[in-house]
Amino acid sequence: MHTIVKIKFKIKSMYRNHTCGELNLAAVNKEVTLAGWVQKVRKLGGGMNFVDLRDRYGITQLVFSKEADADLYEQSNKLGREYVLQVTGLVRERESKNANNPTGDIEIIVNKLVILNTSETPPFTIEDDTDGGDDLRMKYRYLDLRRNAVRRNLELRNRLTFETRRYLNERSFLEVETPVLVASTPEGARDFVVPSRMNPGEFYALPQSPQLFKQLLMVSGFDRYFQIVKCFRDEDLRADRQPEFTQIDCEMSFVRQEDILNMFEGLVKTLFKTEKNIDLPDFPRMPYSEAMKYYGSDKPDTRFDMKFVELKDLTTGKDFAVFDSAEYVGAICAKGAATYTRKQLDALTDFVKRPQIGAKGLVYVRYEADGTLKSSVDKFYDQNDLKKWSERCQASPGDLILILCGETEKAQKQLCELRLEVGEQLGLRDKNKFSCLWVVDFPLLEKDEELGRYFAKHHPFTSPKEEDIPLLDSDPGAVRANAYDMVINGVEVGGGSLRIYNSQLQKKMFMTLGFTEERAQEQFGFLMNAFKYGAPPHAGIAFGLDRLVSIFAGLDSIRDCIAFPKNNSGRDVMVDAPSKLDAVQLDELHLKIDETK
Ligand code: AMO
Repeated sequence: MHTIVKIKFKIKSMYRNHTCGELNLAAVNKEVTLAGWVQKVRKLGGGMNFVDLRDRYGITQLVFSKEADADLYEQSNKLGREYVLQVTGLVRERESKNANNPTGDIEIIVNKLVILNTSETPPFTIEDDTDGGDDLRMKYRYLDLRRNAVRRNLELRNRLTFETRRYLNERSFLEVETPVLVASTPEGARDFVVPSRMNPGEFYALPQSPQLFKQLLMVSGFDRYFQIVKCFRDEDLRADRQPEFTQIDCEMSFVRQEDILNMFEGLVKTLFKTEKNIDLPDFPRMPYSEAMKYYGSDKPDTRFDMKFVELKDLTTGKDFAVFDSAEYVGAICAKGAATYTRKQLDALTDFVKRPQIGAKGLVYVRYEADGTLKSSVDKFYDQNDLKKWSERCQASPGDLILILCGETEKAQKQLCELRLEVGEQLGLRDKNKFSCLWVVDFPLLEKDEELGRYFAKHHPFTSPKEEDIPLLDSDPGAVRANAYDMVINGVEVGGGSLRIYNSQLQKKMFMTLGFTEERAQEQFGFLMNAFKYGAPPHAGIAFGLDRLVSIFAGLDSIRDCIAFPKNNSGRDVMVDAPSKLDAVQLDELHLKIDETK
């Protein structure tokens, strides 16, 4: 059990002396006062009404009996769902107990009822299995938050942030707040901007992360910083992306990569221990190049093996033009999946051919139980050929080999999607299993072929590996960074890097990224200036708190561990944001909207 749950203070106030989640047989014959919401009214007839009273802590059964008090019984006939009540009564042992409810051994024989508030019938049932669809639940999110499932996620989130603060505080990290109205920077995602009334035509940006400020705090000598902080990015939304999300943002001075990895692996291990009583093994470190070669992704789901196997050399020269012309031929071996039917294989083929994935087709080899190999390309490859493939894939009778081909990077990405889908179908992506690793040695730069220029893969303050610095001039694409990501179950939960702390190298980095000296000075002059005044070696990391919580909660989307999330179009449908401004406001902000657009 978690420590915070153990340190329970009595919830006593002018309205109640117990919660709806704590009474049991030990309280029998005690008079208690509870306050909460009506979950359900059950009118049994024969002069008995049962009311389930709910608060944050649980549900307690109330009994109104005509025989005991006719007036009260009459009042209870008028109660509706979600009415807010204060009741006083005697705790009694129940005749028919409910083992599924912690308070299921007792009930309250009510002798005083105060209706604190009435309620309209809610638009959906406040139950674990609600009849409310997504849109309705978001519109009435305050009602949705009354449901156990969502509330539990927020309680979990609170425990994780509490433990995080404790862990970091014990290690001398200082929580420092950084500004929310900052300047727009051209790198990274799109900024959300805020017009300045006092500075016509000028805009603040909301921070995509406190990156620059935390580096400046290191120059100021703060040594160990953290902040649990809202960040804002105007990017396309997905299940694991929100326009405003929370980071556990950290920075340390006088550290090398090993120090950072150990410190923050320690944090995540502590969270798993305190929350789930799981002792995680040390996190493996996988170079980026290996992650791409074996999993086609920089965030591999290592809960299951099914690594990529390259078959190009074994498939060439047998008149199968598709493989012959492909730069890359790669396979995965699905253990025990030779039983896949034609229909299932066709469905997998359709899956990889979907426009989001974009493969041309899928080749399969079934390793039958009797040892024969049957493939969809039997016309070109005989048993001998297929035997060689299966040996390289370490396949055994009963296994299924799936093969994709094409241009290396694209085919690897497609094979990655296929691997995840097959892993899902075979039940290998168990939400109660946790596989953590560090992906290290990322490339420093990424080339945008269309624009013909390099972008920082992480951000422009990430330091190149010392031995690769000379390559910045000759072969920028080959330079590796001192950057690392933490990956859990195929989700990038955190990322960071060792920073450049030398103003000359920082200048060079900006030049490599295509900044002119003036623009670098204009945008980041303050940082390069600061570096002139004794910047210590420093490094850091930021975790996506929402992603971390959703992994602990076994959720597919980060939305349900955020109290008031945005929908997929970036809207808050409850408060109806974003919204239009009136003409006066627009005028004050020196903004003109072109209504013809
Ligand atoms: P990065 O951009 O990798 O690094 O972000 C750090 C972590 O934040 C989470 N994350 C998100 N979560 C939800 N919604 C989003 N839109 C979103 N975008 C990112 C991810 C990610 O790993 N300043 C650097 C960190 C550093 O170098 O110290 C940064 O922000 O889990």
